[in-house]
Amino acid sequence: MIVESLKINNYRNYKQEEIELGPGINIFYGDNGQGKTNLLESVYLCATSRSHRGSKDKELIRFGQEEAHIRMMFLKNDLSHRMDVHLIRNKSKGIALDGISFKKAGELLGTVPVVFFSPEDLSIIKYGPSGRRKFLDMEMSLLHNRYLKELITYNKVLYERNNLLKQIRKFPQLTDTLDGWNDQLLFYGKKLIIQREEFVDHLGKMMKEIHGQLTGKKEDIRVVYEKNVSEDEFEEKLASRLEKDIHNGSTSIGPHRDDLAFLSNDIDLRKYGSQGQQRTAALSLKLSEIRLVEELSGEKPVFLLDDVLSELDKNRQNWLLESVKDIQVMITCTGLEDLIQKRIQLDKVFYVKEGSIQEMSPPTLSNA
Ligand SMILES: Nc1ncnc2c1ncn2[C@@H]1O[C@H](COP(=O)(O)OP(=O)(O)OP(=O)(O)O)[C@@H](O)[C@H]1O
Ligand SMILES: [Mg+2]
Repeated sequence: MIVESLKINNYRNYKQEEIELGPGINIFYGDNGQGKTNLLESVYLCATSRSHRGSKDKELIRFGQEEAHIRMMFLKNDLSHRMDVHLIRNKSKGIALDGISFKKAGELLGTVPVVFFSPEDLSIIKYGPSGRRKFLDMEMSLLHNRYLKELITYNKVLYERNNLLKQIRKFPQLTDTLDGWNDQLLFYGKKLIIQREEFVDHLGKMMKEIHGQLTGKKEDIRVVYEKNVSEDEFEEKLASRLEKDIHNGSTSIGPHRDDLAFLSNDIDLRKYGSQGQQRTAALSLKLSEIRLVEELSGEKPVFLLDDVLSELDKNRQNWLLESVKDIQVMITCTGLEDLIQKRIQLDKVFYVKEGSIQEMSPPTLSNA
């Protein structure tokens, strides 16, 4: 997968810009607050229908404007395609592939494989389970459209069940009406558990190999799917917690409470890992994600690397850049010195300033 060009109109701090990208490493450098992340976000939006920062659609439209457009031309299986995203203030967005609109934004997932890596991702091991669940859900949704539909339904059912639990506190006679919601929660919840199990198994194998290489075989990593409940026990445990759940007005059992554990030489990195170990594991996780997306979608993803290089030490930087040699990468940074020193072959270099993008000639490495 290669993004060939991007045309953006009234998106964030961009008025109108058009760039052509190279198939290798594309650098976007400039001072803080100039629009580097915004640009990567626009690619992510074309691939997933949403902002990686979780921003609302209307926040993406340039201040004072009513509409924003992004047109992304990309090459997939040697064929050129066009993705158009049209954001309108106070209306739902329109997304079209080669001129044909998607009925629901979620249908687009998986069309353009993309992996986003931001400094926050480096904390995924350290922080709470919700970030790790989000990672699971996002990756699995990108790879399997069915998963996203089942996840959305599960979350709706969970929401309704929680509302009903709160009502039952006041009106116990409503308890009988829970059965329908319980059945649906179990039905969709079990589907999520089974699919997550399979995905984590796959991820674990990939990560073990990559992490072994990254740590010079010093660390043997295992990813464990810590399910809140197994599909066999789900029904029984849900029933046994009913009184407590009514009291709390929320459902305490189900895959919405799942987590992922990362064990290095059998030590839980979430609790006992050093800062460096946690970040290295996060890096392995991202690199595994690239490989997994490639394996399962049959396409090399576009890698969006936002400000991460400056967060890593030299060894890990080198490892990361070495690992993504054969895919298209868009990197943001504030300066080029580091990359020139490393003698990394840069395909295209763009200077970003106040929402305008200027293509520069890549530094000649032989003189560096
Ligand atoms: N809807 C919008 N309309 C106009 N400007 C916006 C909008 N949303 C964000 N901005 C502006 O975009 C700028 C931030 O851009 P961005 O996050 O891409 O910066 P950056 O170049 O990545 O900076 P850093 O190096 O600090 O990460 C801010 O100055 C912000 O005010
Ligand atoms: Mg930024």
